[in-house]
Amino acid sequence: MIILGIETSCDETSAAVVRDGRVESNIVSSQRCHSAFGGVVPELASREHERLIVSITDSAVTEANITKNELDVIAATAGPGLIGAIMVGLCFAQGLAYALGKPFVPVNHIEAHIFSPFINDGEAHHAPRGSFVSLTVSGGHTLLSVVAHDLSYEVIGRTLDDAAGEAFDKTGKMLGLPYPAGPEIDKLAAKGDRGFHKFPRALTSQSQTSKSYLGNFDFSFSGLKTSVLTWLQKQTPEFIELHLADIAASIQWAIVSVLVEKTILAARSRGIKSVSIAGGVSANSGLRKAMKEACDKECITLYIPGTVYSTDNAAMIATLAGVKLSRGMQAEHSYNIAPYASFAAGRRKAGLK
Ligand SMILES: Nc1ncnc2c1ncn2[C@@H]1O[C@H](COP(=O)(O)OP(=O)(O)OP(=O)(O)O)[C@@H](O)[C@H]1O
Ligand SMILES: [Mg+2]
Repeated sequence: MIILGIETSCDETSAAVVRDGRVESNIVSSQRCHSAFGGVVPELASREHERLIVSITDSAVTEANITKNELDVIAATAGPGLIGAIMVGLCFAQGLAYALGKPFVPVNHIEAHIFSPFINDGEAHHAPRGSFVSLTVSGGHTLLSVVAHDLSYEVIGRTLDDAAGEAFDKTGKMLGLPYPAGPEIDKLAAKGDRGFHKFPRALTSQSQTSKSYLGNFDFSFSGLKTSVLTWLQKQTPEFIELHLADIAASIQWAIVSVLVEKTILAARSRGIKSVSIAGGVSANSGLRKAMKEACDKECITLYIPGTVYSTDNAAMIATLAGVKLSRGMQAEHSYNIAPYASFAAGRRKAGLK
């Protein structure tokens, strides 16, 4: 089965071809037009997707060495994300499916992130046989879920305010770093001292405010944001410039240490020996290293997507569509576009709304 995946939920325009579960092409174009604004401008994102979607799709099909007529299924992100941006990819994908007379499969973007560590691009990473704990950390989400083999998953924790990626981007902006600041903080942190300044960690063992952190798998990053802002306001520009790498490392560690602690606690409390991380922040080298060390200590197997599959990409959309179809889920012709996440705590099954 040859599946074309389309992803346009935020500021990446992407198309991918997956043949029998294996990625044949994955073209990703990251929009640069937002950097001057310090964040994604929804209107500009939609226009950029509109400008690029045809050529990106053509490239994905050409690189996979097929013609459009050989496609069996067209899949696209149907949410969550920016509504205008989603509509561009979704309408294009549905129009293409209609014109080619092929079935169309809508895919939930966050579910696709959750399963991205198991994308097969030649180096297959098989999903664990039993349940695994998934930490999904992206620009808009921070979720801890327990995922079962039948694709059902239980969301056991989520952020109460900012997402982890947002925490990187907003604190990075305070440091004068360009958007998205996550990768910039990552690079700087590699040269800095993470113990330089201790920023607060909410809802953890080290939190002053929460004594009942055990069994609480929710996150909160807005306090960190305020703390960084007020601390920076007390420093001179010269001091900040001199210690930029140390400050970046301290911010990164404040975020990463919470993500690792909660994930390991979740795995321990459920007696689960497999953990995965996914979403844009899973590209963070500090998170990858700290999570690996923590998992090794607990004899837990860690699953991580290749960095190209951490941030938004269409390979994960086509891959999840293939998994859903192979499990007997049907192609759909009517569905709800979901601009907002509906990932409240509770049990869901991938593909079911
Ligand atoms: N190396 C890195 N270190 C830290 N953060 C990173 C790194 N690389 C990317 N990010 C962050 O990942 C986020 C983007 O991830 P992703 O593309 O998955 O998010 P999104 O699609 O915008 O949001 P969502 O998936 O929740 O809809 C940004 O906040 C970015 O700063
Ligand atoms: Mg994403």
